[in-house]
Amino acid sequence: MSDFTHVHETPPEGAAEDWTIPQAWESYTDVEHQTWVTLYERQMKILPGRAADVFLKGLEALDLHGSGIPDFREMNQKLEALTGWTVVCVPGLVPDEVFFDHLANRRFPSGQFIRKPDQLDYLQEPDIFHDVFGHVPMLTDPTFADYMEAYGKGGQRAASLGMLPNLARLYWYTVEFGLMETPEGLRIYGAGIVSSSTESKFSLEDPSPNRLGFDLERVMRTLYRIDDFQQVYFVIPSIEQLREVTLQDFGPVYENLKGAEDLPIDAILPSDKVFTRGTQAYAARGGRF
Ligand code: PHE
Ligand code: FE
Repeated sequence: MSDFTHVHETPPEGAAEDWTIPQAWESYTDVEHQTWVTLYERQMKILPGRAADVFLKGLEALDLHGSGIPDFREMNQKLEALTGWTVVCVPGLVPDEVFFDHLANRRFPSGQFIRKPDQLDYLQEPDIFHDVFGHVPMLTDPTFADYMEAYGKGGQRAASLGMLPNLARLYWYTVEFGLMETPEGLRIYGAGIVSSSTESKFSLEDPSPNRLGFDLERVMRTLYRIDDFQQVYFVIPSIEQLREVTLQDFGPVYENLKGAEDLPIDAILPSDKVFTRGTQAYAARGGRF
């Protein structure tokens, strides 16, 4: 997950100029590998019929189960052959410009550590399970792979125009918390959802959240929450169409956004395509799972 907030400006001890660190796969303990297996098996009971096919196929293609935490040397050979992407390790959240530079060069920055066995469900900083299990399968899809590279380049531009808060919402509501429409019904492709056993169910089945059709400017005006389940999910018709609308020059889009107000998290506009008009009951009773 990344909401583009960070603390450090220079790489910490032991990290390279681009903030990468070695994965040091040999240094993971048996307990850490077991944590991966536990999380993986839990998600695989939940995701068939909920996650998008493209995500499930990506997991297969990368053979991410194995006997524990994937060794990036092996995983990257498969991923690079498919879409030219690789995964690199970083010590935690990195500065925006470092993050965008990696994406723009088809490198996905992943946390190196894995969560402790007593915090399987809630995490403040993204760990290797969120980053790899959640994000990397989608990078096997050529269209999504292009979108992510374009996002990195778009991030560099948005930063220079002071539009980062708006662009961050696009990432949030697609890459992290996106849903897509399929002939079989709504499916999850967002990494923040597929890597969470509770939100995998909540995002699709709970009557609380709104589920609205994706609209670029609308999404970029919508606030989001980083501390609890989302109150709104946006549904794309397909990855191809997501790529199409984000291919356009955002210059005029940013001009429009400057004159538009931010939208509350639970707003429903007359122009919205409504899949679910949520009750917002979960948020109203205070949330937090
Ligand atoms: N088309 C966007 C621009 O002109 C770049 C971008 C592409 C941003 C994909 C996000 C995702 O700035
Ligand atoms: Fe993420």
